[in-house]
Amino acid sequence: MTVKSRLARLSVLATLSLTLPLGTTFIPVMAHAEVSAADPLKPTGAWSIPQRKQAQTPPMGWNSWNAFRTEIDEAKVMGAAQALVDSGLATKGYVYVNLDDGWWLKRRQSDNRMQIRTNLFPSAKIGGTAGTSFRPFTDKLHGMGLKAGIYTDVGHNACSQAYDLHSPNLPEGTTAEREVGLYGHVDQDIALYFAEWGFDYIKVDACGINVYAPNSDLVKTHAYNGIEPMIDQNAISRTDITGVRRLYDEVADALDKHNPDGDYILALCNWGTADVRTWGKQTGHMWRTSGDITPTWTRMLHNFDSASTRALYAQAGAWNDPDILFIGHGEFDANHLVQARAHFTLWAMINAPLLISYDLRSAPQSLMDIWGNADIIALNQDKGGHQAVIAYATDDVQILVKSLSSGQKATVLFNRTGAPITVNLTAEHLKYLSDQPVQLKDLWSKDTHSFTGETTFTLAPYETRIFTTEGTRRLNDGVFLSEIPGQINVAEDGITAPMPDPAVHRMTGQWSGTRGTGERPAYTGWGGAQADSTPYDQNLQVAGQRFDTGIGILAGSRLEVRNTEGHTRFEAHVGVDDSTLNTGDKVRFLVYGDGKLLAESADIGFGTSVQPLSANISGVKIVELVVRADNRQSDMPLITTWAEAALKK
Ligand code: GLA
Repeated sequence: MTVKSRLARLSVLATLSLTLPLGTTFIPVMAHAEVSAADPLKPTGAWSIPQRKQAQTPPMGWNSWNAFRTEIDEAKVMGAAQALVDSGLATKGYVYVNLDDGWWLKRRQSDNRMQIRTNLFPSAKIGGTAGTSFRPFTDKLHGMGLKAGIYTDVGHNACSQAYDLHSPNLPEGTTAEREVGLYGHVDQDIALYFAEWGFDYIKVDACGINVYAPNSDLVKTHAYNGIEPMIDQNAISRTDITGVRRLYDEVADALDKHNPDGDYILALCNWGTADVRTWGKQTGHMWRTSGDITPTWTRMLHNFDSASTRALYAQAGAWNDPDILFIGHGEFDANHLVQARAHFTLWAMINAPLLISYDLRSAPQSLMDIWGNADIIALNQDKGGHQAVIAYATDDVQILVKSLSSGQKATVLFNRTGAPITVNLTAEHLKYLSDQPVQLKDLWSKDTHSFTGETTFTLAPYETRIFTTEGTRRLNDGVFLSEIPGQINVAEDGITAPMPDPAVHRMTGQWSGTRGTGERPAYTGWGGAQADSTPYDQNLQVAGQRFDTGIGILAGSRLEVRNTEGHTRFEAHVGVDDSTLNTGDKVRFLVYGDGKLLAESADIGFGTSVQPLSANISGVKIVELVVRADNRQSDMPLITTWAEAALKK
């Protein structure tokens, strides 16, 4: 897609926003063909996530930031690369070796060409008209069977130029020479990094459009060329969602242009702001869902929670990114192996990119064994691409279940607390029959275990247990939609006003302590589509009837479901969920197959029992599930339930 076409659609959407009731914000979700811009619920008969060559499974590799911050150099990076190869981690999938902040010297003013800090990267000193080049560096990595990643910012300046002011490795020179970010140079820089230098992966940060306000002390003291902030991390209404997305879309377009073979990864790093948790899948291969992780248990919880409820928003080629791993440091170091294993297991289960960030030249074997657990890596890299779904949740314990392409499942029992806790795992959690045996294999100890009905574990403080499971599926002739989140694209989630997500753990800051008033909910996406839960984290229930499986979604929504296994029937029971506050308006559920209407419900309101809705989907590739509420009288969210929604043989 070209910049022009992306922008044309943005302007259609901007026009649309003028017609919305006062006080509501239109979220520009441009997931689909042009025709649907006028009516976002109109079926397209297409899977609207861009076809991507890379990141069909979550990217794996190494990143310099948590290990070295800006104190990077070639020996450290190549040492990590060599260790990946020598230890066998590379053959297990850890192939991306990613430079983070700190590699740059300046933007040369004669031709705006970026120059590398050759005191840190001696091989980059090639002389001649180019001056410096990362080509020798990427050639070396490629020669080792690895891939190379680079880092930049979408604004003029990077995060280190605001937050690592003590660093000896900050860009140098005049104001313009220190403008190392992409702003105003997207095409030139992307061409340089990919076509000329041969990188395979780029992380694009957002400090440049966040913390460099023209009249701020930072900008004045350091003579930066400020940019009016487009992001307010505390206020979505002061964040220019469309503008932020447009900047990242320009990067995506330049990457398309300079990598005609599609061999690149774009990692969006705007920390869950600007509603990226909703649109990131359209623009990048992965998008950060939160602020930076720190090596503390409670921050790990925070980052995990920012991604773990977003199973329906991730799929092959497009992943939620709760940040790089912090294993090896602080509360996840070799003295805290229970916590380190938990961190790794949780990231694997929610299909997070697995990026080690540790000095691998001297890693203890106990940590290597964590990153190298082949069974757990296999779950993360399963080609089904189904992020784990939360089957049980309290603030203390979570049970997650992930469907695997083998037909098995994986389950995690997660003790979030610092006290021992008893966990009952039931066949129902796994959507298996309760009167049939269930086999478990522990992916750390490799022990096997069998139970019928339920089994009980006592988890140590901070312990996470992980198993693959086999049992008799409750639905023997098909799959529940909540079992295949990777085959679902939330094209429209029905949210009219993006709201911060309160279901993310709020921790005491590592540096702020208890100064100030504490962490507040920040990342929008609250009210998004959910598997086995309503959009606002309630049990699915219609007219007093409780359902333990289904898709919870707001009215005004459209889901695309890929029918990859040749299923022939879609079946569900539909209704307005009892948790709705809008009890007056009526909705209509519609099922489309490759763009054609196959079935629809009557108009249904609050309090009406679920209605069966089924359709023949023989030969259909894309099933679309639409909930319309065309004559709404109220702006209150209208919560609906596709109960027991399933594809059947
Ligand atoms: C931001 C990002 C981090 C890291 C630093 C580098 O904080 O979120 O992941 O890249 O910038 O300065």
